[in-house]
Amino acid sequence: MRIGLIPESAFEQLGLWSGEVPTPVLESFNGLMMVRSLMAVCRLGLLEALADGPLSSEEVARRAGTSPMPTRRLLDVVASLRYLSREGEAYALTPAARRWLLAGSPESVRDYLLWRYYEWDWVARLEDHVRTGSSMVGRPELNEEGWRTYQRAMLGLARLGSNEIAARTSVPRGAAAMLDIGGAHGFLSVAFCRRHPGLKAVVLELPEAVQASAPLLAEEGMGDRVVHRAGDALVDDLGEACWDVVVTSSVVHHFTAQECGDLTRRVARALKPGGVFAVIDFSRPDVPGGKGQTTALMDLYFGMTSVSGAWTADQIATWQREAGLVPRKPLRLRRGAGSVIQAAVRPG
Ligand SMILES: C[S@@+](CC[C@H](N)C(=O)[O-])C[C@H]1O[C@@H](n2cnc3c(N)ncnc32)[C@H](O)[C@@H]1O
Repeated sequence: MRIGLIPESAFEQLGLWSGEVPTPVLESFNGLMMVRSLMAVCRLGLLEALADGPLSSEEVARRAGTSPMPTRRLLDVVASLRYLSREGEAYALTPAARRWLLAGSPESVRDYLLWRYYEWDWVARLEDHVRTGSSMVGRPELNEEGWRTYQRAMLGLARLGSNEIAARTSVPRGAAAMLDIGGAHGFLSVAFCRRHPGLKAVVLELPEAVQASAPLLAEEGMGDRVVHRAGDALVDDLGEACWDVVVTSSVVHHFTAQECGDLTRRVARALKPGGVFAVIDFSRPDVPGGKGQTTALMDLYFGMTSVSGAWTADQIATWQREAGLVPRKPLRLRRGAGSVIQAAVRPG
């Protein structure tokens, strides 16, 4: 997936074809204002004000407690992004806004957009990262509210993809024990356990994440079938021949190559014979910069905010092979914008 300039008239189309349009001006200005407008409309609750039906911008402003004229301008931007329609003076939510942005929608990514406020400050340091190689390992600046926002944001994304991951990862017949490394809110474990009635899962997470996401897991009502364990996957003992399934989703991009290799070896030892280790993550294109705007941006983002960046599916499979596992073919996730499941089986 990529974002690019889309002409809105034949005249603009001709301008683009002629090569006379200074594309960086529009890419940077539209990009800058588009991101912040989406963030603001979520934070200010303007869409929730429209949940029950069309309203004028003055009425939206009155309900949201915002200033009428800037509210109208912001609503017009959001309408240009097609999350609102406008008839006369009345603004209405489009189906896309109801589905993706409205608080409380089962597929809402509103919390993920609120997480952008933290990322907004981080990306301001991109030049430092590129100049010096410094990165913000371990999210040191996150306070309690930051951890809660982060975990809610991750849950919003996990709700979109977990059922597909659980459906497409085959687990051993009669699987009973699952370990979810860096599983945060535990929703991926919830999806596996709902699919396999005999399965119970342990979600191994950093203590701050457990504290922030325990209420989110409790809301799923899984009781003792999905439980948190506070720890550190990089140093904790994962056990020996005790898990039928080990998963780790959107976590290995936080770890160095050495840490990933070591973790995979400890997982291989912890799996029962026939057990499955599934790594789910963005797969970096094999040709650097060759394809995939989203994966290239993710690679840069994770390089800046953790220690490594996105890995290729091939690299993940190599760690699995070196640990004595038998890798399966990577599976691309339908909604994952470049994410794959790279699973491997412990022989025996
Ligand atoms: C991007 S989130 C992914 C969360 C979840 N797996 C999902 O797919 O929604 C990465 C998670 O890895 C956790 N994590 C990072 N380092 C870890 C470590 N050393 N041990 C356990 N968890 C870790 C973070 O706390 C965070 O919740």
